[in-house]
Amino acid sequence: MALSETIKAGPVAGKLDHIPGHLGMPIFGNTFEFLKYPFAFHESRRQQCGPVYKFSVFGGRTVALYGADALEYVLMDREKNFGSRDGWRLLQQLFPNGLMLRDFDDHRSHRRIMQVAFKPRPMQDYMLRLNDGIANTLPAWTPSPRFQFYPAIKKLTLDLGASVFLGLEMGDEAAKLNQAFVDEVAASVAVIRKPWPGTKMGRGVKARAFLLDFFRDLIPARRSGDADDMFSQFCRAKAEDGAFFSDDEIVDHLNFLLMAAHDTTTSALTTMIWALAQYPEWQDAVRDEVMALGTERLDYAAMDRLALTERVFKEALRFRPPVPFLPRFSRRPFEFGGYEIPGDTSISVSPGLVAMDEDIWTEPTRFDPDRFSDNRAEDRRHRFAWSPFGGGAHKCIGMHFAIMQVRAFVHQFLQHYRVALPDGYKPRWQAIPIPKPRDGLPVILTRL
Ligand code: HEM
Repeated sequence: MALSETIKAGPVAGKLDHIPGHLGMPIFGNTFEFLKYPFAFHESRRQQCGPVYKFSVFGGRTVALYGADALEYVLMDREKNFGSRDGWRLLQQLFPNGLMLRDFDDHRSHRRIMQVAFKPRPMQDYMLRLNDGIANTLPAWTPSPRFQFYPAIKKLTLDLGASVFLGLEMGDEAAKLNQAFVDEVAASVAVIRKPWPGTKMGRGVKARAFLLDFFRDLIPARRSGDADDMFSQFCRAKAEDGAFFSDDEIVDHLNFLLMAAHDTTTSALTTMIWALAQYPEWQDAVRDEVMALGTERLDYAAMDRLALTERVFKEALRFRPPVPFLPRFSRRPFEFGGYEIPGDTSISVSPGLVAMDEDIWTEPTRFDPDRFSDNRAEDRRHRFAWSPFGGGAHKCIGMHFAIMQVRAFVHQFLQHYRVALPDGYKPRWQAIPIPKPRDGLPVILTRL
């Protein structure tokens, strides 16, 4: 096997000699250094080179544009210069044709059709499903001095996703589906990009085939029924010209949507519970707010009355954003930060690095939900100061759903459980592709 076969060559960028930074070893570039400590890698580059620098991971040379202005410039993309599909090329093999892998007019028309499933009416139906699923699961969580929170919430999020997105009650398929998602996501950052047997990519490609067949078999029943799950809505949704999504489009959208929803929400909920365990004073305050609503399940109309919960969640997302780096691909040369950057170049901007920017946030390394209070409003210091859900045309379509799911969970969880961290415990987080605690986040779980 030639070494060059291990990393699939990325798109060929124009000349980057004038851009500061270094491209690391031949073939592998900076991949291993980046994978080990992604944030430290970028922070040191930025300190050495300034806000515009080049690096090389996964076989493609990339120009990083640091800062909130860069996020705004690239994501708002007023000149339609930055493609998402080629930016997210690492996902192309496993999630081709997902919404984020489409650009411009094609993206807009697909997004418009999918948007039907995120309107207030269907959201109210999802809320009922979320509440039911959470209420059915929580009583089975057994108090323990070392309750593994991450696997428990990952399973719950998958079960909720199966109910809300697919209209399924999970039975025997759950473990197989869960493993398939894990394999698909793990393959997206595999160093070996060929689907050889025994490799991460080999497992990822097999997992994709399994999931697509699984969804395809369900299409006839979803098309003819009148259920309110997202799958059924995609089957019935029409474009302006009256056309429906084809079977291939439906399975690709679902496959991408489940991936986009599952690990991100799991990661966000894990950080949220870690924060409530680490800062008991916030846990008590949020519990008081939840109890004051006086309902066992969260009412859709009462969501806006959880202001403290929202503040803590916003800070959790700032502290550890599930999607810290966003890639794009320039179609034409452009100028940023005093540099002429060529077309056909991979670009990276980072909500995660901006979330720790000392020019925007007061003591950014401190967990401090009050920075989002109306009188401090640090997030309003820049339009892109706080952007864990991205921005512009590709801004997360599931943002309100994710926020709703987190509130519904926290609302029921804190009514029944107290959570704390073992003495001296410090979690070790795997930073990418999506942050997760390497040890499953063992917490002390007690019933109230
Ligand atoms: C806390 C949870 C979540 C976070 C932090 C998150 C974050 C993001 C981010 C940053 C993007 C933009 C990527 C880019 O611009 O390149 C995005 C896009 C997307 N997200 Fe989420 N997401 C979350 C939950 C969800 C959920 C629950 C769903 C589905 C119900 C979802 C579906 C999508 C889809 C389909 C896109 C692509 C949108 C487009 O290209 O137009 N996400 N998400």
